[in-house]
Order: sequence, then structure tokens, then C-alpha cells
Amino acid sequence: MLVLGIETSCDESGVALYDSARGRDTPLSGLLAHAIHSQVAMHNEYGGVVPELASRDHIRRVLPLVQKIAAQAGVGMKDLDAIAYTQGPGLSGALLVGASIATALAYGLGIPAVPVHHLEGHLLSPLLSKDPPDFPFVALLVSGGHTQLMQVAAVGDYILLGETLDDAAGEAFDKSAKMLGLPYPGGPALSRLAQEGKPGRFRLPRPMQKSRDLDFSFSGLKTAVMLAARAADFGDADRPDLARAVEEAIVDVLASKSLAALERTGMARLVVAGGVGANRLLRTTLDAAAARRGFRVYYPEMELCTDNGAMIALVGALRLGASAAADAADTGTRASRGFTVKPRWDLASL
Ligand code: KG4
Ligand code: ZN
Repeated sequence: MLVLGIETSCDESGVALYDSARGRDTPLSGLLAHAIHSQVAMHNEYGGVVPELASRDHIRRVLPLVQKIAAQAGVGMKDLDAIAYTQGPGLSGALLVGASIATALAYGLGIPAVPVHHLEGHLLSPLLSKDPPDFPFVALLVSGGHTQLMQVAAVGDYILLGETLDDAAGEAFDKSAKMLGLPYPGGPALSRLAQEGKPGRFRLPRPMQKSRDLDFSFSGLKTAVMLAARAADFGDADRPDLARAVEEAIVDVLASKSLAALERTGMARLVVAGGVGANRLLRTTLDAAAARRGFRVYYPEMELCTDNGAMIALVGALRLGASAAADAADTGTRASRGFTVKPRWDLASL
């Protein structure tokens, strides 16, 4: 089954072609081609994502990107069996672009359009790596808008173990970076600056690290960073040290809650997904803990950590394969003319 995936939930247009027959042994071999256009440069001058600009740019990018990967993979639109698109959560205007293009194309081709949950895409994106995890596993989902620990038994079987009560970890990175005068998106920039910083110069709180649950809270950290950066004696030379303290505080909390989740569920596999999963310190910290305690950590390939079409095409193919390999054949009659998007959508409700 050949599936085109389209991702437009935020500030990246992502498209991919996934062939489930070729991906039977390892999902990575089913990924025929994928391409991403990042809008970071466009939003940069506003210090964050401007939703209307994001939507308009998706309109310009999606179809040319689809043509590009189709040429790369040597397939035509008529070869497609389904089109998967991100239905939510995300920015409503941006989601509508992907949803309407996918639905229109699918209707024209007489094939199904498959709505996909963006976070399920992130959750399963490590399956597209050279050494994919087996089920079951604990997943730490850390994106710009979400911080969650999920217990994953199989595709579609997700139990929420804990989540942030306020800001997401990515948001804490982004907002702290802004206070340090760094460009959007702040996570990678703050992480680079932190490499020059001296440890231990600033003491920042580790919110809820000692709470008995698996929930997170990052808004207090943001306030502490603001107070430190506004202190009268805070100068330019202090910025790398504060950046380092921020990164260490966020990573410390993420790592200790992940270990607690593994302990509580008795699992020995941890999957880390979402943009913050690209963070080097988070990776080295979790890898060191894994070596000490005898569990394994799985990450998506670096290029699939942030938003991409590959994870959407993969989930579309898995969902279709699981639900109805048989009725995929007569999908001409099931191609839908209507669609909705879900800017807010609980993953555990799947
Ligand atoms: O998953 P993602 O690409 O988009 C959403 O679905 O939100 O995640 C974006 C988030 C941003 O907050 C960004 O600052 C953060 O991931 N991020 C990082 C790094 N790379 C991306 N945070 C820390 N360190 C990084 N290297
Ligand atoms: Zn994302």
C-alpha cells in the first residue's frame, strides 16, 4: 500500500511517500522519499509563529513538495493507495491547508484520505529508524506544545501516564531563549549557547521533580529565568551560564520523570519523540541512565525529530493496514468529500 503523508500542523510543510509492502520488515525501508520545508526563516523576524503566514506558506509549498518526492521515488499520483494528513492538534488554519489538499487529491483519485493525530506521528516516528523499538514501550513526547509520558502497548493503544500542567518543555526552552535574546525557535539556539556556559552558576528550580506523580510543570522555571535575566548585575557574559542552567533544569526533570515512568510500568524501553528529543544533553543524560540501569532508549533519526511528513505517512499506513486491508480495495466508494480538523485533540482518546 503506497501512502502519501502530508503534515501542516505548524511551521513545517512535510510530505512523504511510504510503501507498507516494502516496510514490512523494517518500516524505514518503506520510506521511499520525504521532504520538509521549514518556515523558520519566515517567522524568525516576528519572534514566533504567525499563524496566518504559516497557512499561506503551506498553500505555496505542499503541492510542489509532493511533485518533488514523487519524481524522486519514481511514482505517479495514480500509484497512490491513500493519502494521510495531520488532522490535529495544531494551528487550525495550517491544519486546514493540509486537510483540504489531502481530501481533494484523495477524492480526485478515488482513494481514502486518512486523518492522523500529529502526536501519534511523533510517538511512532522512532519506528522509522535503523534500529526501531519493539512494543511495548514508554514514550516521552516532548514537542513545542506537548510534554507527555505515554504507555504504548501497540499501535493505537496509548495510556497517558503524566503530562505538563502548564507549559511544555519545548515552550520552556523557547520562552527562556527569548528572555536571553535568542532567535526563534529557541530550543536549538539555547542549547548551542549553553555549550559555552559554566555549570552551577545559576540555581534554577526543578518543578515537580519530587512529586509522586508523572506530571510536569515548567511555568515556574520560566519565571525564575526571567528574574535571573532581569537582575541588575546580569550582563551579556552571563547568558551562556544561564542558558546552561536552563537546559540542565529541563533535562533533569524530563530524565527523572522518564525513569520513574519506566519503574512504574516495569518496562525496559523508552522512546523519546518530538522536537526536544533532538536535544543533545537530553540524549546523553538518558543514555547514561540507560547504561546504568539496564534499559534502552530509542530516538527518531535527527531529521525526523521535528515535524515531518514521514511520520504521518507511516501512521496512515499502519492505521489503514490495521483497520481494513480488505476494504482498501473498494475505497473508491469511500473517498470522502468532507473533512474536519481538530486543533485540540487528546492522544489518549484514540
Ligand atoms: O515537535 P516539534 O518540531 O513541533 C511541535 O509539534 O511542537 O517541536 C518543536 C520544539 C520547539 O519548542 C523547539 O525549540 C524544540 O522543539 N527543539 C529543541 C531542540 N530542537 C528543537 N529544544 C531543545 N533542544 C533542541 N536541540
Ligand atoms: Zn510536532
